[in-house]
Amino acid sequence: MRKPRIYATCDIGHQALRCLFDHGYDVEVYEKADPPPKSLVLEKVASGIDALITTLRDPIDEEVFQAGQGTLKVIGQDAVGYDNIDRRAANRYRVPFTHTPDVLTDATAEFAFFILGCVSRKLYPSENLVREKKWTTWHPYLPFLGDEVSGKTVSVIGAGRIGKAFAMKCSGFDMDILCCSRRGEDRNFVASVQRLFDAKFDFGLSRRRASIRYVSLEEALRDADYVSLHVPFLPDTYHLMNDTTLAWMRPTAYLINTSRGTVVDEQALYHALKKGKIAGAALDVFEREPLPEESPLRDPDLEDRLRLFHHFASAGRQTRLSPDPSLGMAGRCVQGVIDVLEGNYGGNPAAMPYVVNKEAFQD
Ligand code: GLV
Repeated sequence: MRKPRIYATCDIGHQALRCLFDHGYDVEVYEKADPPPKSLVLEKVASGIDALITTLRDPIDEEVFQAGQGTLKVIGQDAVGYDNIDRRAANRYRVPFTHTPDVLTDATAEFAFFILGCVSRKLYPSENLVREKKWTTWHPYLPFLGDEVSGKTVSVIGAGRIGKAFAMKCSGFDMDILCCSRRGEDRNFVASVQRLFDAKFDFGLSRRRASIRYVSLEEALRDADYVSLHVPFLPDTYHLMNDTTLAWMRPTAYLINTSRGTVVDEQALYHALKKGKIAGAALDVFEREPLPEESPLRDPDLEDRLRLFHHFASAGRQTRLSPDPSLGMAGRCVQGVIDVLEGNYGGNPAAMPYVVNKEAFQD
């Protein structure tokens, strides 16, 4: 019997790939770090592969599904986001595609918290000072000061899985938390976190009784020292942070984005930073990735107040590479592919946990 064939557009780690070999699949991996050209992906799909493993960098559109008509059985996306996959086309061709939710929640949330601290406490300028041999003396406030995080107010815009996990990291620093969500309020979550805050205060473990509540977007932006974005990429989150909404933020506030680049209008952010309308920002995602050389965000004048990272939030070793589907993206990605190819869950993609487009398989 012919071995099922899988093409991976990038190396997702040898342990996870080994699982596929162990299941008897014939696996080919595009070995270069950069993504394969679309023509190569089309060629592989048209050659009759059973499964395609993709990442956020691969545009998976109508053409790809057409090339795989009758042979392509599943797409396994090695990411939680799937902005690169044309869901309608997948549904028309009835190809399930999977993703890797949950396993990167904590890694992303902690990274968001770390970059918040990084920009606020000026870690990069401090290290630069030492490296550039410009550290001349200890002084109470020169050459600069940072802003403490503990006890401040943080707004969590998009209080889904990652937003809530981020809020929990902030709770460790006794921050007042303002949640903003268009999907409605999770009263249990808010009540549980408030009980935690109350207990910490009542047992003398915190000097202040922190609070958590849901507010409108405008309130969240006006009342926060830190604003952290955790919304998905959707038509109504496009440029959620724009000239108007950035102007609602305090001149002393910081913006953190680990969600999707298109949620922030980068021109508007550039002007807000340049004119001192907000204190700083830390960004892990950009409207165009990699960040173009000519991006205004590279302005040296902003260097001390603007931290830039290479879409790195989920990039913890275990999170990215563990072959265990309960721990790692790679493990969850290959399990999603195996579920479809081996007809797990009664062969019904709508019942498979990692399939995104369940609607195409529901009667
Ligand atoms: C990362 O951004 C992901 O969607 O997994």
